[in-house]
Amino acid sequence: MITSLRLKNFKNFANETLRMGPFTVIVGANASGKSNIRDAFRFLHGIGRGYRLAEIIGGKYGAGGQVEWEQIRGAVDEVIRMGKSSCSLGVTMQPFFTGTRKKSHYYNIRVKQKRDSSTFSVSGEKFTAGRSAVYTSHPAHGDPVRDQGDETHLLLRMAKTGDQRKYGNRISARHDQPGLTQIAEHKRVVQRQKAIVSSAINQLNDMRFLDLSPASLRKPAFPGQTILGDSGENLPTVLKEICENPKRRRALIEWTRELTPMDIRDFAFPTDQTTGHIQLAFKETSGKTVSAYSASDGTLRFLAMLAALLGKSPARLYVFEEIDNGIHPSRLRLLLDLIERQTAKGNIQVVTTTHSPDLLSMISNKTFEHTSVVCRNPDTDEAVIRPISELPNANKLKTSQGLGRLHTGGWLETAVWFSEGKAANKGNEE
Ligand SMILES: Nc1ncnc2c1ncn2[C@@H]1O[C@H](COP(=O)(O)OP(=O)(O)OP(=O)(O)O)[C@@H](O)[C@H]1O
Ligand SMILES: [Mg+2]
Repeated sequence: MITSLRLKNFKNFANETLRMGPFTVIVGANASGKSNIRDAFRFLHGIGRGYRLAEIIGGKYGAGGQVEWEQIRGAVDEVIRMGKSSCSLGVTMQPFFTGTRKKSHYYNIRVKQKRDSSTFSVSGEKFTAGRSAVYTSHPAHGDPVRDQGDETHLLLRMAKTGDQRKYGNRISARHDQPGLTQIAEHKRVVQRQKAIVSSAINQLNDMRFLDLSPASLRKPAFPGQTILGDSGENLPTVLKEICENPKRRRALIEWTRELTPMDIRDFAFPTDQTTGHIQLAFKETSGKTVSAYSASDGTLRFLAMLAALLGKSPARLYVFEEIDNGIHPSRLRLLLDLIERQTAKGNIQVVTTTHSPDLLSMISNKTFEHTSVVCRNPDTDEAVIRPISELPNANKLKTSQGLGRLHTGGWLETAVWFSEGKAANKGNEE
């Protein structure tokens, strides 16, 4: 599980940390920076996929020109905070096994952009397990990228096994790719360090970013495609796979009956005889079969979320944009119930942004602990991220008025700037 995300000079954040739990909710005004946080997760995911910095930021294309990886929004010109030349991202990760107390891992990467160019390089990297270092860029406090004739290298120092405070092997790596994915297979890295590094890579790799589009959700799919696309592609085949297990099929039907007004008895997956594609259809109690083409947008969105969360091999982290989009407020509680229940099991984590006061009013006390507000300082344009439960009187006001009302009335932003002002004054007095 990822327990925190640190953003330094990334987009509109100067130096902020998002506290995360099994289910993390992010609220804030338009253009406050919520999707910039999603972009930070995408950056880290790109690292997990083993891409170079230019690919992560600018996009990666397959041999036929098809997009394998979309560029980060803002691409080369706007990933780093305006006026700065480098940015850092850091994540604290806890191994997923429940019941065992494992040391948390911390990974941080600093990336710099060459002046007036679209060239990026790693200018610092650090990985720790508990309080012990696993590796750090070298020299530890300077710029590890050293010019060596025509080549530029990233120098990494591995911690000495047996004594984690001392450093052993130095490894020379490419400067245009995170060291993390270069040392995972390196012959001079010992097995134990490789295992730790690989577990972090797996966590970063195992993320999904769903931004559902009804048009994609309606499309038939190639047989055997069991991973839901980011816009909801392959919904029929993902649901078909879930339905192959009778217990999962029952759970899927029950949730669909509860979440949608459809009187559904079962799913059907007819094959288009001409194209060989699998279609999605619903069998109603009346005996009628309705195709996905005529299902409502909201129904399809629900189904996609069910497919993501109840599927056979769910991702460890889902980042949903505006989860309430297209969902009637009366059904939001069930959707929350689904997410809170699935994430409480400990193997799936969900991060979502929302503008919905209804959703905020319904979240559980546990989710409230991991609900943050993002807001921009009107004077500096920098954004801050604050856990709502830590704002003055938040718990009391949540109970008396409901979080939704506090959100609609603009109390969250007022409370953030009130406490920031107080903190600044205190700093001035000291
Ligand atoms: N490199 C950058 N430096 C400074 N600010 C930036 C940078 N890149 C983006 N921004 C700021 O971030 C804003 C966009 O933020 P974002 O898309 O995260 O908003 P949001 O909270 O998701 O809003 P919405 O609710 O409308 O989706 C831009 O309007 C811009 O002000
Ligand atoms: Mg947004």
